[in-house]
Formats: sequence, structure tokens, C-alpha cells
Amino acid sequence: MPATDDLAVVRKPLPHDSAPRHVTGSAAYIDDIREPAGTLHLAPGYAPIARGRITGLDLEAVRAFPGVVAVLTADDIPGANDVSPKLIGDDPALAVDEVRFYGQVVFVVVANTRDIARRAAKKAKFTTVAEPPVIDLADAVDTVLPEYSFGRGDIEGALAAAPLKLEASFRIGGQEHFYLEGQIAMAVPGEAGEMFVYSSTQHPSEVQHLVAHALHVPSSAVTVEIRRMGGGFGGKESQASQWAVLAALAAWKTGRPCKMRLDRDDDMIMTGKRHDFRVDYRVGASPEGLLEVVDVALNARCGHSEDLSMGVVDRTMFHSDNSYFYPSCRVLTRRLRTNTVSNTAFRGFGGPQGMTFAERMMDHVAYTLGKDPLEIRKANFYQGDRDHTPYGMKVEDNLLQPLVAQLEASSDYWARREAITAFNAESRILKKGLALTPVKFGISFTLMMLNQAGALLHLYRDGSLNLNHGGTEMGQGLFLKVAQVVAEEFGVDMGKVAITATRTDKVPNTSPTAASSGTDLNAMAALNACNIIKDRLYTFIEEKWQVRRNQVSFRDNQVIIGNHVMSLAELANAAYVERVQLSAAGFYKTPKIAWNRDKAEGRPFFYFAYGASCSEVTIDTMTGEMKVDRVDVLHDVGKSLNPAIDIGQIEGGFVQGMGWLTTEELVWDKQGRLRTHAPSTYKIPAASDIPEHFRVELFQSEGPREDTIFKSKAVGEPPLMLGISVFCAITNAIASLKPGVMPALDAPATPEAILRAVRGMTAA
Ligand code: MTE
Ligand code: MOS
Repeated sequence: MPATDDLAVVRKPLPHDSAPRHVTGSAAYIDDIREPAGTLHLAPGYAPIARGRITGLDLEAVRAFPGVVAVLTADDIPGANDVSPKLIGDDPALAVDEVRFYGQVVFVVVANTRDIARRAAKKAKFTTVAEPPVIDLADAVDTVLPEYSFGRGDIEGALAAAPLKLEASFRIGGQEHFYLEGQIAMAVPGEAGEMFVYSSTQHPSEVQHLVAHALHVPSSAVTVEIRRMGGGFGGKESQASQWAVLAALAAWKTGRPCKMRLDRDDDMIMTGKRHDFRVDYRVGASPEGLLEVVDVALNARCGHSEDLSMGVVDRTMFHSDNSYFYPSCRVLTRRLRTNTVSNTAFRGFGGPQGMTFAERMMDHVAYTLGKDPLEIRKANFYQGDRDHTPYGMKVEDNLLQPLVAQLEASSDYWARREAITAFNAESRILKKGLALTPVKFGISFTLMMLNQAGALLHLYRDGSLNLNHGGTEMGQGLFLKVAQVVAEEFGVDMGKVAITATRTDKVPNTSPTAASSGTDLNAMAALNACNIIKDRLYTFIEEKWQVRRNQVSFRDNQVIIGNHVMSLAELANAAYVERVQLSAAGFYKTPKIAWNRDKAEGRPFFYFAYGASCSEVTIDTMTGEMKVDRVDVLHDVGKSLNPAIDIGQIEGGFVQGMGWLTTEELVWDKQGRLRTHAPSTYKIPAASDIPEHFRVELFQSEGPREDTIFKSKAVGEPPLMLGISVFCAITNAIASLKPGVMPALDAPATPEAILRAVRGMTAA
């Protein structure tokens, strides 16, 4: 990597490589791929209960439906009936006898068209013995994983000694991913038992392994490809597998290509969401609001199976401190089993829920003491030797103070605070609120083995490059960023680097594209591949022209070799003639990280990404309506690989976080049926919800201390948590109603929730 910032392609605000195709409709998603002749279509069928036993299933009318080719149940699976991540074994592709949530798939119809399959599925006759389902967190007793905690110090002693003691419970809602492209897979059988699967997945390798297990064939017989997803947001990390397995099963059974695309309602009913939580906490602080002890129990609704609840809820724990030093603490988690769909990864991977707790606790201390929450936040920041997280990792390279100070000034926080206080004194019904909240997010998979990546790079004789790696594209611009690195290394225009679909037969044993680490890992693997090819070229150049490698540079679409100048094509061709290998597999594994979960010690994260946002809102205390008036964001991406893409990620992440905490509400009825399974009842932010004043800036720095790709930092997830400032601003507006009282506000802060909190204040 060049030591200086004399860069031609990296750091440039290039538009997303597919942007013109996205907006003209020519970007091919799986449903756009021309179907091979004879393709069949699948529709899922499920029992009308959330919990109980299936005592009879009559599929005669389904089979007899004109156009139906096959109806498949668990009996048809030749191998393992399991679509759980890591083969945990608790998530059947097709349920047998026992139903554990409303919408759990029991059979699939394979028909000439999707419409026929869907109509036929309704003809099934179930006989069931229903049991009362456990839906609400409050009723959950059983867990999907054992209780787990970490912390330090004498909690009870510290609490007893603390001058200020606070205690509360609140709820944080879940979130539907609402990717624009729903779950989909198409499987095409090969001539000798192989299976080629197009799957809209963040984790092609896992889909490959699960299809192989289900069909009882080796992994080498299964190839999974994904060019792009129309959004994943974590919802296609583990939960794309089931549809791919079912499509492959149908293709194996019928010998014909089979496609499964879930209807939007089915998608919302049948796939897991962000974990919702009940948080119970006790906190002890000094009279000035400096934390002394924090005792928090994080109760997560995991749904009927484990899925990714180990990693997700661990990340909640790792972020329950957000940016604050807890001298003594206990962070305890309960992963509760319910008769609802299994909750899964969602942008932030549990971190947002932990941070929402930390910010709410800051507010609680501030409002109780009658102080400005920003003062309390800053006082409790990690700083000096107050730098140890509850899991023992030291916070190094800490940007909290400079970053927050800059935003505090650029957002004009204190002048606006005064203006808002004056406004609220005059305004009886409308109340304004302001909040500035920080983000500190740990980058790396906490499951250590996932912190690796591979890439495959070919240099052709005409000087063009073909790039492949294990990361998947879901709109976040990963393919572009990795290609920028390759173009930079060979000194060529972006047009010389072909971006290709992710395929398990090109780069094997890949990690999911998740934990925001797609670029960090795959761009490093691609860089390694570049270096391997360049190394061979340097050796070739030394032999052929007697020019040392430090006299060679690749730039401006040329190769400068001492006094010679030639094109990359000329060099590649000359090297080819001398039989130099021009293809390489690159590899990368993140250094320095380690995490021992049993001992709760180590350094789970390579580094932290920081950010802060300042939001201003107005609420109507009569109707509960809320409007976001102004948002200022300052976010740290180290030294950006591509500022246009990064700002897009920050804007999108913020809005998605804001939606989670304000309008997006999931409602299940007592029978366990999801009542919010369409955009008519589930409200994601619309274009009109984007604040009129929405200013996003990148924090300028020399980049992280650690050796990251061109000193950049991950950006995919951390900005989602900037949305917490909106929730805190709403709390602030409600708090203006009664000094000294912490508003009891649950997330999401829907108009109903705001009204409840307002009433609580007037009653208090
Ligand atoms: N951006 C878009 N446009 N679409 C997505 O689905 N997923 C997010 C984030 N940004 C997502 C997105 C999530 S959950 C993660 S983990 C990261 O992108 C994954 O990509 P990265 O590791 O390349 O940042
Ligand atoms: Mo992102 S939730 O790690 O896919």
C-alpha cells in the first residue's frame, strides 16, 4: 500500500458500480434471471396454530390441484432436516409433528406457477392439538441458551454505598428487515447429482453446506451464487438458507429447476427479526452523576430456536456500555424461548439494543439530577485510565472526546438548548427535545473463526482484471470498495476491474458478509492476491529488464519500469509468454483479536468505530405525534475508501435506526399471529420522514492505529445506532413536562407510546 495519500482510485467518491442499473431496472436480482425452460415454483404451507401437535395432515386436495407437480414434506428430505446456522439442529426445513410458531413451514407445494402453488397450499387440511403459546417476553421461562453474564466488582456493596440509586425497567421493540427484495432462491439440478443454487443470501457458504446436508451430497456437489441482494440487513445471514434448501429439495425431487420466492406477507411471518428486549437495571452514581455501579439484566426474545442468538445477544452485552466507563458492573443476559419466529441478525447485531439501554440510563441519571444529559454523557465517557470495558478490553485509540466536542460545536448544541428551553416555557402543547448521543461500535466477529476471508484474482493478457471474493453485495457498496483497492494496486481505471458474482466454487469456506467487516476482510484478501501477482511480476521484471522492484510502479494505466513505460497489457502478455502465473488466491485473517467466552476475557474487537448524532424533535402532547426537525451527524470511518458510499451508509443507517425506535412496531396477537405483516400495518420510514435538515459529515482523522485497509474503518452497521439520538430527543421533550422526573418511554416511541409517557408525567 502506498504510504502517502497519493491515491488515484481509493478515497474517491465513486458512485455505486450498479447505481445506473439499480435505477434503470437492469440490475439483475434472482427473480430477474431468465428461468430455464420447465422451471417450477414453490409455495409454503403451514399449520393454523403457534404451538402444538399436528395429528393429521391431509394433502390430497393440494396434490389434486391442477398444475401441482409435487407436494413435499419432511419425509421427502434425503439428508438432514435442518436449516439452523452451524448445524445447531433445532430448526427444521419442514416441521414434523410439532409446531413451534405460527407460520412454521410444514410442507411445500411445487407447481407450474407460483400462483397455482399458493392457491393449492390453502387446500391442506390440518388436524392439530393446540397448546397455549408463549408469545410475550413476560410469559417466557424456557431459554434457548443458558444465562450468561460478565462484569466486575462487588455489585451489591457498591449499590448500597452509592449516593444516588436508580432502578427501572423498559422495553425495546424488535424490527422487521423489510429488504426490498424478499427471500428468494432458485435451484438448477446438474447432470450428475450436482445442484446449482442462486440464493439471495449473505452467507453463500452456509447455504451450500445446508443444501449439501439436506440432499445428503458432498459440499463439492453444491454451488451457490449471488450477484447482489436487494438488501439483507442481517435478515439473509442465516435465514436465507431455508428457502434455498427447499428449492434444492424440490429440484432434486423433480429433476427440474425450482424457484422459491416468498410473498411479502409470508416473508414477514416466516422470517426472524431484530430481538426485542425487556431491560431491567439498577444503577448507583455519585451526586454529580458519575456512574459507580451498573447492574443490568437484558432479557431477549429469541423465538422458537437458537439461530444467531448466541452472537447477537453477546453483542448486546458488548455494547451495553456504549461509550461509558462502568467501575463496577454486572451484565446479565437471558435468551428466552417463545412461540414466535426465531429472531436473527439485524444491522448492529444486538449492539443497538445494548446501547439504547446505556443511553436511557444516562438520561435517567440526568433527569433525576436535573442536569443536561450531554454533561452526564461526557463525564462518563471512557477516558484516561477509566478505559476498561466490562469485558476487560481496553478502549484505545479513543475518539469520543474530540468527535463529540466537534459535533457539539457544529450542531450549535448549547444555543439550541437555550432556545428549546425558552420554546417549551411558552408552548403549552407542542414540546421540543434535543439530544446528542455517541456511538462506539466494536469491529470484528465475536466468533473468532469468522474473521477470515479469501479472494481470487485473475490478470488477463490484455491487462484486464477479474475479481472475486467471499463477500456479498447487498447495496452497501462492498464490491465497489474492493474493486477500488485492486484498481489502485494495479494503477488502472475502475473499468479494468471486472466485478463478479460471489460463488462458492471460486472462493470456498467463506464467512457471512456481516458484522460490518465485509470490506475490512475481503479487501485485505484482495490486496493479498494483488501482492502475490505483483510479486511474480516484480521477479519477472527483475530478470527480464534488470530493474529492481522499487524502480517499478503501477499507475495511470501504465507500468513504469525504470526508464521503460508500458501498458499493463504489455507487461501481462510478456509475463504470460515467459510462463508467469497471473492468477492468485488471496487470504486474510484479522490479527490481534481473541475472545474467551467462558472466562469472559480477551480482545474481541480489532478496533472501535465512533460516531455521534444530534437530533431535535417536536412532539404534540395531545396527540403523541412527533416530527424530527433537525439532525446533525459526525461519523468516524477512519480514512474513507469511498466517501460517497460511506455517507450513503451513514444516512441509510441513521434512518433505519430512527424507524426502529419510532414507527416500526411489531404486534403479535394472543394466538401468536403476527398482525403487522405488510406495509399497511408496519411503518418503515418514508422519504418524507427524512428530516428537512439532515447534515452528515465524516470525522477527519489519520485513521485507526491498527493496520486496516488503507486506514479505513467499517461503516455498515455503526450508523444505525446514531438513530438513538431521536429516541433520546423524544425523551427530552417529554422530560420538559416535569423537572426531576425520568419519562417512562418504551421503544418504539410511536404516538401511542409518547402519549402514554406524557400521561405518566402528568400523573407522576
Ligand atoms: N446497506 C445496504 N444498502 N443494504 C444492506 O442490506 N446491510 C447492513 C450494512 N449496510 C446493508 C447495508 C449490514 S447488517 C451489514 S453487517 C453490512 O452492511 C454488511 O456489509 P459490509 O460488511 O460490507 O459493510
Ligand atoms: Mo449485519 S446484522 O451483521 O448482517
